[in-house]
Amino acid sequence: MRKFYIAPSILSADYANFETDMKRIEASGAEYVHIDIMDGHFVPNISFGAGVVASLRRHSQLVFDCHLMVSNPEDHLEEFARAGADIISIHVEATPHIHGALQRIRQMGMKASVVINPGTPVAAIEHVLGLVDQVLVMTVNPGFGGQAFLPETLDKIRQLADLRQAKGLDFDIEVDGGVDDQTIELAAQAGANVFVAGSYLFNGGLEEGMDKLRQVLTVND
Ligand code: DX5
Ligand code: ZN
Repeated sequence: MRKFYIAPSILSADYANFETDMKRIEASGAEYVHIDIMDGHFVPNISFGAGVVASLRRHSQLVFDCHLMVSNPEDHLEEFARAGADIISIHVEATPHIHGALQRIRQMGMKASVVINPGTPVAAIEHVLGLVDQVLVMTVNPGFGGQAFLPETLDKIRQLADLRQAKGLDFDIEVDGGVDDQTIELAAQAGANVFVAGSYLFNGGLEEGMDKLRQVLTVND
């Protein structure tokens, strides 16, 4: 059984109070923090860049799970490595050079993670699964928090878990988008073990929300 991780997404935090929110995330017992980087090109929205990540690093020992929703992510890997990223997720849809980019992330000493959008099949990443520490299955279309979980993505989580076993590989499966106390159970049952949650935790109540999500995961452990 793989360990479960909940990764609060600071996309839904109060950007004027990042330091306070990082402390709250740590106090809630989370081990990961999910950091969404959006360039206004690969996705319509713009969030923040490596400078913000570097500032956050000075206030936190959490695992920085950096989700790059940017075109040509291979051009930005060094700056996020320097900023203190632990895991870098890059979209297969965002670069013609996914294989080399994933290799570089590992060479720089970080964990490599490949992401597929809801419309992208597992087959698009099958040949790089041996290069990754994590696969991120988007359970909404990327760009904005607060969207509804797309249940049709569950089948891809099952396919990935099966492929991992069939090929004897070792990677975590993360889900991102629309995760709440109902959908987390569906994703866990399909085979995911890392769960990003933004609006559910920040609009509801971080501490209570974390407890509730952990409770659901304990039942499914
Ligand atoms: C969406 C981002 C998510 C976002 C999830 O493109 O990648 O990480 O913060 O937010 P919720 O949990 O509100 O769907
Ligand atoms: Zn994300």
